[in-house]
Amino acid sequence: MQNHKRPPASLIFIFGGSGDLNLRKLTPALYNLFLDDWMPEKFGIVGIGRSEYTDESYRNHLLEGIKKFSRRKEEANGEWQAFSQHIGYLQMDGEDAASYSKISDLVKAKEKEYGEHPNVIFYMAVAPQLVPDIASKLGPLNICADTKCTRIVVEKPFGHDLASAQELNRLLGTMFDENQIFRIDHYLGKETVQNILALRFANALFEPIWNRNYIENIQITAAETVGAENRGAYYEKSGALRDMVQNHMLQLLCMVAMEAPVSFDANEIRNKKVDVLNAIRRIDPGEVQDYAVRGQYAEGWMHGDKVAGYRQEKNVSPQSNVETFAAVKFYIDNWRWQGVPFYVRTGKRMNSKSTIITIQFRKAPSFAFPPEAANSWRPNRLTISIQPEMDIRLRFQAKRPGQNLVLSPVDMIFNYDEAYDEHEPEAYETLLLDVMEGNATLFMRADQVEAAWKIIMPILETWETRVPVDFPNYLPASWGPEDAEALIARDGFNWLTLSQPHEE
Ligand code: BG6
Repeated sequence: MQNHKRPPASLIFIFGGSGDLNLRKLTPALYNLFLDDWMPEKFGIVGIGRSEYTDESYRNHLLEGIKKFSRRKEEANGEWQAFSQHIGYLQMDGEDAASYSKISDLVKAKEKEYGEHPNVIFYMAVAPQLVPDIASKLGPLNICADTKCTRIVVEKPFGHDLASAQELNRLLGTMFDENQIFRIDHYLGKETVQNILALRFANALFEPIWNRNYIENIQITAAETVGAENRGAYYEKSGALRDMVQNHMLQLLCMVAMEAPVSFDANEIRNKKVDVLNAIRRIDPGEVQDYAVRGQYAEGWMHGDKVAGYRQEKNVSPQSNVETFAAVKFYIDNWRWQGVPFYVRTGKRMNSKSTIITIQFRKAPSFAFPPEAANSWRPNRLTISIQPEMDIRLRFQAKRPGQNLVLSPVDMIFNYDEAYDEHEPEAYETLLLDVMEGNATLFMRADQVEAAWKIIMPILETWETRVPVDFPNYLPASWGPEDAEALIARDGFNWLTLSQPHEE
């Protein structure tokens, strides 16, 4: 039974309504919110696209998506009928300025129907290059001047580099107030990512040791087993650095490294994160090879299946130098983190799907146990598994049972599935609900996006000017190129994975 406040009446226009993102993520998320009683009492969803659909055929198309991609496939028929009555389709060419009056007309009609002015949300689920044009045509509509109720949601990638991100921010800023602009980074909507703040700031235990005095290094891995799939055309213009590091990985880093917020106000949280980004040491272009490694997957075998190399993927150039793997070492120049390396790596076609954050603590300062007790002695470690495992593991030493004094590491594990009966919402459910509620905490502010671009620009520019000589340089189902091992081994560490939690 519902025991929470629903968001106010909302009308959601989805540009790219016939596209993949809507089919796989947005409509399933909205439907799940509906099933959980989180949708407003009065709401409408309007898919906008060029393809031809009637309302009926559009709804059927979306239902197929739910059956395939939603976390609740089995309930697809349950309340779909009631939910789908809220969905309509508007066939419209986004380039045709004259047709935007249809949107204003629809808002007016809905206003009458609802008996109140709803939130009007424009979701840009389109190719990034189309966003400026659509936004410019939306801007002049009267409804966009309503800074309280009208919002625009912009997907990543937000710009292609620093200059284009600044230009996009400038352009959006001429039509919308910053509080109307919701820049999505879907990692921030993940339950396990939000839980980092709870772990750090709702417990007195961790914060006193969460600094350079006790932490030796921090690693963030986001490994995927998939390749470029059918996204070759997009990926060719992107690469791992733009696709994952500039946004998701740096956001994870901010969650781990930020100072304690004084409140949960959206701007307060984002201020604390932007402080981290501003404190990240700029990598000198001449030293990029000491801090960053790139890779590209070759053809090979992925757990028994033969898979193509990146250069053989659809819509990818056979000579492509685009990186499908990136590893970077960052330093944060502030009091808390001075001298602590943050190793970040991400790649496609890697050994297993695994996003984990590892906080490696320093060794105990003195060791009083007999030497033979210490063979498998290891320093403490906290591992936060973001996905697909969802758990937090704290490793400490224990005495093995027996007459001999032998120490070995054990894990204390908090596992979401074991601890809770509730199913965790998907990131897009959380984020869409936040947009309807006007809560921007989990969204990127203009200065955050630009600060993140500033950090990776020296790497991007260096990689663009220096042709990689060894591509492809890693095999499917591996952990990336050898150089990535060397990057961390030079500092005396090695990459950690969940499958070998006790390895050094
Ligand atoms: C997207 C990237 O932002 O994140 C994809 O464009 C990547 O390339 C995806 O596969 C990973 O998201 P998740 O939630 O599966 O980790």
